Amino acid sequence: MTITSRNRPFSRAQIRELLEGKDDDWLFSRAALATELEFGNEVYLRAIVEFSNYCANQCHYCGLRAANRALGRYRLSTDSILGAVHRAAANDIGSVVLQSGDDSYFRADTIGWLIREIKARHDIAITLSLGERPADELGLWRYAGADRYLLKMETFDRTLFERCRPGADFDGRLKQLEWLAAMGYQVGSGIIVGLPGMTLDTLAADIEALCDLNLDMIACGPFIPHPQTPFAAAKSGDVLSCQRVTALLRLLNPGANIPATSALEVLKPGARLKSLRRGCNVVMPSFTPEDVNANYNIYPGKNGSNGDARARLHALRAALAAEGLVAASCRGDAKTRRYRRQPGVNANSENKTQSENKIQSRRSKHVSGH
Ligand code: 5AD
Repeated sequence: MTITSRNRPFSRAQIRELLEGKDDDWLFSRAALATELEFGNEVYLRAIVEFSNYCANQCHYCGLRAANRALGRYRLSTDSILGAVHRAAANDIGSVVLQSGDDSYFRADTIGWLIREIKARHDIAITLSLGERPADELGLWRYAGADRYLLKMETFDRTLFERCRPGADFDGRLKQLEWLAAMGYQVGSGIIVGLPGMTLDTLAADIEALCDLNLDMIACGPFIPHPQTPFAAAKSGDVLSCQRVTALLRLLNPGANIPATSALEVLKPGARLKSLRRGCNVVMPSFTPEDVNANYNIYPGKNGSNGDARARLHALRAALAAEGLVAASCRGDAKTRRYRRQPGVNANSENKTQSENKIQSRRSKHVSGH
């Protein structure tokens, strides 16, 4: 990925001040306006299917870390994964995220097969969130039809990264983000807000680093301590700080897809909806089967709500409607390309037309089906 220095409307010092809460009214109202200008009142839904909670990593913040022996581990069968995707499509969701811990059990060709099966059955965008993988596997999946890939850095501060993710390869992870962009994926990354040791200066630098990557998706949630991790005694991230981060990211990346994360809701009921009024435009309801979803225990409270996926989706749609927002059923591609200033790439019209065509064909299908 080309690292460009973009014209930023804010200096580092201004970002720092906004993170301190010097002008929340201005920040949140401008972020709301920027979101509305790009996305109207539409909120994009991503059905997330968390198909394995096995993980080879030892991240100090995450409940899935390999050393957590208290966690019941599961892997979904390919049938079960396809069933979950089918339920999402049947519920009028235009985009799925296949996510797992760093689990090498699923071979590249199995994932490739799944992608082709999903694409053959449904007109639905596929995001992969499978951690670090070799370039040939990422290429194979892109060729099979995967549209997007999410790989969060968690922080761009090398020292903090290495302290939180022992054994992890900072440069290798950044490199993977470059490969993904070169392969034509819509690329997502993000940070955890309030990791132990993170300061407002870290956050300001992280925001700039995220902007420099020209991302299509930017996911930032607050840190929640998990009892079976080395960070058990650390304090939670701050919901308001997280909302300031996502509001700033909206102003700096107007066309990016920015989710209101479930971690917000765990810390403060209602915060996820509020974030959709402060710069976020995506919600990611879990479609992981109920018999295992509580075991996708990244942090306490994750997937904690009751009811089946359909009932929860119904409640979510109603809550959005009460806010004057509409849960869109389209693929929900990012609108980032028109902002790119990369020499030689006239991404402006082409990409937009492509995605619009697909949305158009979805709509016509719906119309002719009635
Ligand atoms: N608190 C908040 N977010 C967390 N994640 C992992 N552990 C935690 C935690 N304790 C986030 C990471 C990861 C995503 C799936 O969940 O950002 O990429």
